[in-house]
Amino acid sequence: MSTTGIVYRPRRLRATPGMRRLVAETRLHPADLVLPLFVKEGLTEPAPLASMPGQVQHTEESLVEAVRAARDAGLGGVMLFGIPTVKDANGSQADAADGILQRALRASRKVLDEVPEGTATPVLMADTCLDEFTDHGHCGVLTADGRVDNDATLTRYASMAVAQAKAGADVISPSGMMDGQVAMIRDALDDADFLDTSILAYSAKYASAYYGPFREAVDSELKGDRKTYQMDFANAREGLREADLDLAEGADIVLVKPAGSYLDVLRAVADRSDVPVAAYQVSGEYAMIEAAGANGWIDRDRAVLESVTSIKRAGADVILTYWALELAEWIK
Ligand code: PBG
Repeated sequence: MSTTGIVYRPRRLRATPGMRRLVAETRLHPADLVLPLFVKEGLTEPAPLASMPGQVQHTEESLVEAVRAARDAGLGGVMLFGIPTVKDANGSQADAADGILQRALRASRKVLDEVPEGTATPVLMADTCLDEFTDHGHCGVLTADGRVDNDATLTRYASMAVAQAKAGADVISPSGMMDGQVAMIRDALDDADFLDTSILAYSAKYASAYYGPFREAVDSELKGDRKTYQMDFANAREGLREADLDLAEGADIVLVKPAGSYLDVLRAVADRSDVPVAAYQVSGEYAMIEAAGANGWIDRDRAVLESVTSIKRAGADVILTYWALELAEWIK
């Protein structure tokens, strides 16, 4: 026993920057990070998003530049969202071969593949959901009495997935929370011979207020809410069931969304999943830190790093974040 009576002094491991670095349990790497990108048909200039300072709706040209930047920064992936000029009840542009998302995927594929043979390039992910493409703004097609029709929507997702795979997507990302969507898409991809195209399943996706700024980003037409398909934020166990079902249906990666308010769900999914786990730090999480930072109420840069590192600490192998490019620069 020492004369002070204190045997254990955990502060020793915090005493210097070098020691803290040595013992850090969690470290971000650019390859962990996926950058979500919005591309809007018919735009001539990138359009800044008021509620997401620093983020834009891209033109087809500026999108390609952003994908090139992601590639050069060594990011793990990019996730593309398309906004068509024409929206209709079925979201017909979602699976059109020349639809905005397919065009953007083809252009991105080209840029991403401009690397020496055998070099890793960011994984090309496509959002597989109808809400950007429907005039009513729901993630699926509607029944005559206005409810979201699960099984009719699955047919649309299957077609969309194949169109995205044909356009060069590595990863199909069903984010609409329809029952059976992973199995349906897997079947469709396999039938079309896209055996190597992966599925990132939005497994535990909650009906969340934190998607607010995203709705501006995709010019969403939604009135009402998504509570009959997205999950109730009161429920954690149900999120595990959703993840289990997606794993059983053949998901290659499972995702929890939003991230910051659902770290408990993320940890629990990570503990039982034997496939990689992703988390999506969504638009509202981004907007809150940007807004508080701009007001001088918090140290923006430190909050960015803390929020994203915490998502990794909670169990995410892959993190979708609008700060991906900026973080990759810092980490370097
Ligand atoms: C639906 C979708 C949403 C987001 C990604 N995909 C919005 C929603 O469910 O209403 C939100 C992403 C974000 O807020 O950053 N296709």
